[in-house]
Amino acid sequence: MKTTHPKDGRTIVKSNPRKAELVHRREAPLETRTDLTPEATRDISGAMNAILADVFALYLKTKNFHWHMSGHHFRDYHLLLDEHAEQLFAMTDVVAERVRKIGALTLHSIGEIARTQRVLDNDAEYVEPLDMLAELADDNKTLAARLREAHNVCDEHRDFATTSLVEVWIDETERRTWFLFEATRRRN
Ligand SMILES: [Fe+2]
Repeated sequence: MKTTHPKDGRTIVKSNPRKAELVHRREAPLETRTDLTPEATRDISGAMNAILADVFALYLKTKNFHWHMSGHHFRDYHLLLDEHAEQLFAMTDVVAERVRKIGALTLHSIGEIARTQRVLDNDAEYVEPLDMLAELADDNKTLAARLREAHNVCDEHRDFATTSLVEVWIDETERRTWFLFEATRRRN
């Protein structure tokens, strides 16, 4: 049995139609792997990749403040921020893989994070401990609001798998905000 190669048109001899089908499938353009519409994939991946960039940026800022913490409550704050950083880092792989599962591309590099993030970096040499906590409380509050927006996008396209994850992340983010907020109200 003879057939034509799908790309370069050369004649190939095939003795096994099943094998030919496999070859064709392997060489066909990447097909979508989800029943979500291309529009849904575009909207959801846009929303979630922005969240991913924010989470990486907030992770690093939280680590930055964890490393540069000082003062009377060093141990408490240092440990609290490490706990928060771990929680944020744990989100990243799950967010990126949700985007891949719906057939889109996710972030590739630190450069892409920097171009996408909405969280502002803080490269100051010294930051007062309570200012660190207040800034992170604010960033986490904003992250919760952005997660709510992303939830709306996913919900609109009936991507329930992402919405259920986002619901847990909103709860975690609100817990971080609560702890940071209460810590800034601490009186000696
Ligand atoms: Fe550490």
